[in-house]
Amino acid sequence: MTRRKLILIFSFLLAVSLMLGHFTSRAEQHETKKSEKKAILLVAFGTTVPEAKATYNRISEQTTKTFPSYEIRWAYTSKKVRTILKKRGEAAQSPAEALAQLGEDGITTAYIQSLHIIPGDEYDDLKVTAAAFSGIPKGTKIVKVGDPLLVSDADMRAVAQSINSHKPQDMDTTTALVLMGHGSRHPSNIYYPAMQYYLSALNSNIFIGTVEGTPTLDEVVAQLKQRHIKRVWLMPFMLVSGDHAINDMSGDEDTSWKSILTKNGFEVSINLTSLGEFEDIRNIWLKHLSEIVNK
Ligand code: CO
Repeated sequence: MTRRKLILIFSFLLAVSLMLGHFTSRAEQHETKKSEKKAILLVAFGTTVPEAKATYNRISEQTTKTFPSYEIRWAYTSKKVRTILKKRGEAAQSPAEALAQLGEDGITTAYIQSLHIIPGDEYDDLKVTAAAFSGIPKGTKIVKVGDPLLVSDADMRAVAQSINSHKPQDMDTTTALVLMGHGSRHPSNIYYPAMQYYLSALNSNIFIGTVEGTPTLDEVVAQLKQRHIKRVWLMPFMLVSGDHAINDMSGDEDTSWKSILTKNGFEVSINLTSLGEFEDIRNIWLKHLSEIVNK
C-alpha cells in the first residue's frame, strides 16, 4: 500500500469518526432536551357533580406542592361522565386523548396516577392504554402508571387508620359508621371485605358495604342488628361525593341506603366527606405517584 493511499484511508476514517461524533452528540443533546419534558396525568373515574370538583382541586393543589416542576393534567375513565361534561361545555379527556395530547405537546415521559380505589377494571384499562402510548414515534416515550389507593397491607392499614381517626365524634357502642364503597365484579373487589378486616381491628363499630359488589348492604344490616346498633352514620368510601354518595347513599328514594337503613329501624345521619377530602388519604395516592416518578 502506498503512503498516499494510507493517508487517504486515514483521513477518510477521521472524517467519518468526526461526523459520527457530531451526530451522536447532537442526538444526545436532542434526547436530553426531550427527556426533560415530563408531565403528571391524574386519572379519576370522573364526576358530574359540580361540588365534587372541589375535591379534585385539592388533589391538584397537593400534587403541585409535592411535584412543583411538573405540569399536571387530568383525564377521566368514564365515557358516560365525559359525554355529560362535554355537553355542558366542560373539558373532559379520556386517558388516551390526554396521552395523545401530551405527546403532541412534546411531553416524552408521562406519569399517570390512578385515583381509583382498587386495582379493578378502570385501573386495568388504564394500564393497557399506558402501554399502548409507550414508545410512540414523536410522542410519549415512557408512560408509567401509579397504583390506585389500595394495593398493599400498608395502604389498607393507613386507610383504616385514617377512617377511624375521622369517624364522627359522637360514636358510642350503639352507633355505627357505615362506609359505602363502589364494589365491582372484578376479582379486586376482594379489597372491600379485606378492608372490613382492617377496620374491625381498629373499631368494631365501623362497617363497609358496596353498591355493586361484596359486602352487600344486606350483609351490613345483618351485622348491625347482631351488634344491637341503633344509630348509623353513612359516609362514602369513594374519591369524591358524586352521584353514588348523593343519590344511592343519602337520597330520598326508597332504594337509597338511607331509606333502607331507616326502614330497618336505624336512626340515620349523613356525612358526605369523601376519601379525597382527607389529606392523609391523598398522601397515599401521592406516595404511589412518587414511587413511579422517583424510580
Ligand atoms: Co358507579
